[in-house]
Amino acid sequence: MSGKPNNEPVWPLFDLRLNFNDTMLRPVRETDLNELARILPDDYEHDPSSSLLLGLDLASNRRRLLFQNYWRNWGAWSVESWTLDFCVIYQDQVVGIQALEAEHFVELRTVDSGSWLAPDYRGVGLGTSMRIAILGFAFDHLGAQAAITSARFENAASLGVSRRIGYRDNGVSMSRSPSGPCELQHMRLTRAQWQESSLGDSLLVTGLSGCALYFGLEQ
Ligand SMILES: CC(C)(COP(=O)(O)OP(=O)(O)OC[C@H]1O[C@@H](n2cnc3c(N)ncnc32)[C@H](O)[C@@H]1OP(=O)(O)O)[C@@H](O)C(=O)NCCC(=O)NCCS
Repeated sequence: MSGKPNNEPVWPLFDLRLNFNDTMLRPVRETDLNELARILPDDYEHDPSSSLLLGLDLASNRRRLLFQNYWRNWGAWSVESWTLDFCVIYQDQVVGIQALEAEHFVELRTVDSGSWLAPDYRGVGLGTSMRIAILGFAFDHLGAQAAITSARFENAASLGVSRRIGYRDNGVSMSRSPSGPCELQHMRLTRAQWQESSLGDSLLVTGLSGCALYFGLEQ
């Protein structure tokens, strides 16, 4: 071997940490997958464009897709299209996933999100805290100009999180779902609305060193 060993982290995104109140978010690692699959709730629908294995029941297929999504998201990461899945840690337990994603972020400065929590941890504000954490990261550290999200009309918890944070209604569309066509409520939060809310003031983000390039931003 010639030259000195290089101790720089090759995948700096793994070092990201978002701390908000009593909730900590860190990128999902392969070693989290078994636990995430164990607590994956039945009401988190899979992407209807994913193909199911005929020999597996729905729950087993969704657990399998959780694994494949992990490998796909890191494997397909590019500045033009990325999905960052965070493990949500509460009281030292892995309790769910909060995803942040964007297409052509450098030009469009718009992020989307998705999330789920194990049922035992719902209804106490965790869903709101984990969304605030990724919004603070996106607006205040990546320079996002807008955040969008969407949920079925009847998904009161997901829409409740968005409304509580200050997203405004942004139209309705028909969408495919595993159980057939459904109506989606779209919502949008602008940078100005986010800044006015001061919701992210106590968010602490660490481990950013080396990550900017992965989002197409200057260090
Ligand atoms: C969506 C989800 C992450 C929300 O997490 P949560 O911790 O339960 O949400 P919070 O406790 O932060 O509640 C946020 C707001 O929604 C309201 N809310 C929560 N659950 C609700 C329910 N079942 N019905 C009506 N309102 C509800 C809360 O009252 C709160 O509003 P408020 O502060 O104005 O009172 C969680 O319910 C979940 O995992 N759902 C299944 C997966 C899913 O649907 N993901 C979204 C896919 S688009």
